[in-house]
Amino acid sequence: MLQVEDIHTYYDESHALQGVSLEVRTGEVVCLLGRNGAGKSTTLKSIMGLTPPRRGRIRFDGEEIQGRPPHWIARRGIALVPEDRRIFAGLTVRENLEVAMPPRPVGERRWPIERIFDEYPMLAELRDQDGGTLSGGQQQVLAIARALATEPRLLLLDEPNEGLAPVIVQQIGALVDRLAETTTILFTDQSLSFALRHASRGYILQKGRVVYEGSTEIIRSDPGVQERFLSVA
Ligand SMILES: Nc1ncnc2c1ncn2[C@@H]1O[C@H](COP(=O)(O)OP(=O)(O)O)[C@@H](O)[C@H]1O
Ligand SMILES: [Mg+2]
Repeated sequence: MLQVEDIHTYYDESHALQGVSLEVRTGEVVCLLGRNGAGKSTTLKSIMGLTPPRRGRIRFDGEEIQGRPPHWIARRGIALVPEDRRIFAGLTVRENLEVAMPPRPVGERRWPIERIFDEYPMLAELRDQDGGTLSGGQQQVLAIARALATEPRLLLLDEPNEGLAPVIVQQIGALVDRLAETTTILFTDQSLSFALRHASRGYILQKGRVVYEGSTEIIRSDPGVQERFLSVA
């Protein structure tokens, strides 16, 4: 579904991604691991067109997408939940979802937003609450639900667990497992524990390069990989 081939992404003259290649097949849950600053967010932003790579190729369903603007890439079926979640603090939960909604197709009777509330009763209960008053976990669920409003075929999740308590991380994990039944997922994390539970394959980034790839089981069974390349969970 997604093929990233030898991409190089810069921030001005700073060479953040130095030849990253990876692929995600339809139906897979793949994790992109690495410590802070390794290039995880830049990889997802490069796929989404937010930091277009200067070199290399990105194909989605066989079509080259590098160099296209983010809204074009979104329409092709990719959605990103950014690391900082980007919830509008002064808008209600319902309004946060409404601003992300694509126009309702002609003849469609129900608002897709009602379907989201059916699927996420927690958000339905919070529908009139301001985004700024939500807990970190509630904001993450809202950010994921908002990304799903466009019905993406590939969901990019940037550190979905960051800053969340263990019990909330479990809930996010259950949500990822449920989404994985219908959506292909590429998510990032700094350590291996969540990835082991929810992804089948992984790539490890260090200083803008892929230094390791394999099944999450193989990554776990390699002694020292956690110490060399990852943060301690
Ligand atoms: N907006 C930016 N401007 C300049 N440098 C950046 C910016 N964002 C990230 N970087 C740099 O790019 C590298 C990769 O960062 P990032 O992709 O955010 O890593 P990660 O998500 O793995 O923590 C780091 O060296 C970081 O300092
Ligand atoms: Mg990041």
